[in-house]
Amino acid sequence: MRRLFYLLFISTFAAIYSKKIPSQFEATCYKGCQCNSTQVSCNNLNEKTADLFHKYIPKIYSKLATLIVTGNSFGALPDENLFGDNNRHEELSLVNLTNNEITYFGIQTFIGMPRVEFFFLSNNK
Ligand SMILES: *[C@@H]1O[C@H](CO)[C@@H](O)[C@H](O)[C@H]1NC(C)=O
Ligand SMILES: *[C@@H]1O[C@H](CO)[C@@H](O)[C@H](O)[C@H]1NC(C)=O
Repeated sequence: MRRLFYLLFISTFAAIYSKKIPSQFEATCYKGCQCNSTQVSCNNLNEKTADLFHKYIPKIYSKLATLIVTGNSFGALPDENLFGDNNRHEELSLVNLTNNEITYFGIQTFIGMPRVEFFFLSNNK
């Protein structure tokens, strides 16, 4: 009996630790997106709100350079910073927001991406 418990214990332990431990980027990645330290890509999620941007805080994604979010129905984007609070992505240089049915953005909406060089907004309203 004791041996059985012992075996059970060992196999459970082995099962847990044989699973790959996700990176911090995989762990915080919004469902349906692909994320690594420099790139976040979310396509055709059909989201109705822009809440997903709050997932990508600079504290974790400090080297984020490329952000691709396409295929949603955002409508009016919030007036305030898309990333929430005072979050700023200082390394972010390419942002692709095509095809999101965006109807509006405010003066602060994109304040969290101060160094953007390539900004794509085509196929919106
Ligand atoms: C992140 O993913 C993109 C797209 O798959 C890839 O081009 C890039 O090299 C990756 N970066 C790192 C640091 O793994
Ligand atoms: C932006 O995303 C759209 C939709 O996925 C894609 O067709 C287009 O090539 C992208 N543009 C750039 C410059 O990455």
